[in-house]
Amino acid sequence: MANDLKITATTKEEKYKELLPQLKSLLQAETDLIANLSNTCAALKYGMDFFWIGFYFVKNNALVLGPFQGPIACTRIANGKGVCGTSLKNKETIIVQDVDQFPGHITCSVLSKSEIVIPIFDKQNNVIAVLDVDSETLNSFDTTDEFYLKQILDLIRF
Ligand code: SME
Repeated sequence: MANDLKITATTKEEKYKELLPQLKSLLQAETDLIANLSNTCAALKYGMDFFWIGFYFVKNNALVLGPFQGPIACTRIANGKGVCGTSLKNKETIIVQDVDQFPGHITCSVLSKSEIVIPIFDKQNNVIAVLDVDSETLNSFDTTDEFYLKQILDLIRF
């Protein structure tokens, strides 16, 4: 049985630094991908106080909702649509400071104000999934989030 993760830091970077080794132990103890993605979402939602966090898997050239924590979300996103579909199409991380300013942003919850989407690649450089994190406040995400979220994604065997 996993113990609760402990986060005592107050700054974003320190919280990520505290979370990383704890997530590493948790993820090393299990090989099942869905189990690991589910716990990663829970650890980040509650550890970092995110509004919504989840994975979308690439299936038939579209994104389909996978493990997540937070309110019910859109289940399918076409390639090139919204922030997630644009990240898939362009194979790049996208940080959106104000979702209302992102053309074609898909509103799963009206409470979401800013977001970061990070593509996840296989060994042939194909995008196989994206990580989407949403915040209830504007301007929540920056390159610190990108750096540490990528470190966390590197702990997972997709
Ligand atoms: N806002 C995303 C859709 C996913 S939800 O935020 C969970 C987008 O524009 O792709």
